[in-house]
Amino acid sequence: MDKLIITGGNRLHGEVVISGAKNAALPILCASLLTADTLHLSNVPSLKDISTTLKLLAQMGVQSQWGNPAELTLNAANVTSLEAPYELVKTMRASILVLGPLLARFGEARVSLPGGCAIGQRPVDQHIKGLTAMGAEIRIEHGFVIARAKRLKGATIRTDMVTVTGTENLLMAAVLAEGRTILENAAREPEITDLAELLIKMGARIQGHGTDRIIIDGVERLHGAKHRIVADRIEAGTFLCAVGAAGGDITLRHAAPDTMGAVLDKLQEAGVSIECGPDWIRGHMNQRPKAVGFRTYEYPAFPTDMQAQLMALNTIADGTAVIAENIFENRFMHVQELRRMGANIDIDGHTAVVKGIPELSGATVMATDLRASASLVIAGLAASGQTTIERIYHLDRGYEHMEVKLRQIGADIQRIKQDPA
Ligand code: UD1
Repeated sequence: MDKLIITGGNRLHGEVVISGAKNAALPILCASLLTADTLHLSNVPSLKDISTTLKLLAQMGVQSQWGNPAELTLNAANVTSLEAPYELVKTMRASILVLGPLLARFGEARVSLPGGCAIGQRPVDQHIKGLTAMGAEIRIEHGFVIARAKRLKGATIRTDMVTVTGTENLLMAAVLAEGRTILENAAREPEITDLAELLIKMGARIQGHGTDRIIIDGVERLHGAKHRIVADRIEAGTFLCAVGAAGGDITLRHAAPDTMGAVLDKLQEAGVSIECGPDWIRGHMNQRPKAVGFRTYEYPAFPTDMQAQLMALNTIADGTAVIAENIFENRFMHVQELRRMGANIDIDGHTAVVKGIPELSGATVMATDLRASASLVIAGLAASGQTTIERIYHLDRGYEHMEVKLRQIGADIQRIKQDPA
């Protein structure tokens, strides 16, 4: 397994090109199952989760081809299997996103039930509840969700909690259902808006995306479309936390600041000076960060996917920050590793109290999940001496060439390739 070696202390200067959003690309790739025509996508990030999704789609018969960098075409004219096997679902929970499209277009799907994962239990009961309300017969057998429906029927569905992939699955099911579906308590994340915009280009009739009430009038069939994936707001936020912790002056290109309000507010509170244009963000930091407390909630509030990174910034801040994680029950695994670097953090249930110290000290640490890994990189950039981050395959699931982008702006960071054997 590869590892990263960082020598901390360098200030960051220069430009970073932000990639397309992983969490928008994953449902959009699965939306290719909704039509026999070709989808032409651009700004698709090159990530492990994307190649896993392409593998999953390929074994169903979907053909995909990379063109120019970040351009991908997908065609699902000859789907031969309606099954998502355990081997792929266990490595990526978002595989559940094939359930809605398969059921809507082919009337049948067999998707392995994802297990728990490092950050929490993450059940898919709401996906099942919604599809059942649309007339699907669903049973769980031998670890698979087995779903059948002649043609899904529009329904009013109110999920018990706000769920991102749940909203996406139900949206993709509803576009081909008979009649009107209303999704109440829908998630409002920009990645859902991006998916809805693609579906509309494919011929779907959708209103209210980006709000908590999405209205979908089902159509008989969808056609091909061209679409550019929205910028990754979490990657952009991660680089801004890095400059907040290490100091310097960076400009992010191809970013989407209008999707990042809560994160930009908190960074400014921490002392990072932020300037934005329509698709760029400049972050400039010349002082020790100030402690900033925050609570994670659904969009447009502060995202759980940025909690670990802003916590890393708080470990070296002036003051004490109280951080509440309200989305996942077990998303503080980076805390133990940050403590190995000297951080002063107390956890009580879903709240962490971070007392800032003047400087972290480099150590050998272990990445435990995707965003936890990013927080360790940020800590390593600001720490004195050398930090070794092991098990960085998590990072490769969601960040495109992170160490290359960081080196371009002056970080001392190396990947050590290790043979799996
Ligand atoms: C998505 C994102 C992930 C992000 C998360 C929250 C993708 C591929 N992943 O994950 O990066 O951290 O949103 O912003 O887009 N829940 C249930 N039953 C369900 C569905 C969800 O109990 O059927 C619970 C979950 O356990 C969790 C909460 O609802 O506590 C929110 O989860 P959800 O929004 O569904 O997260 P994901 O879509 O899996």
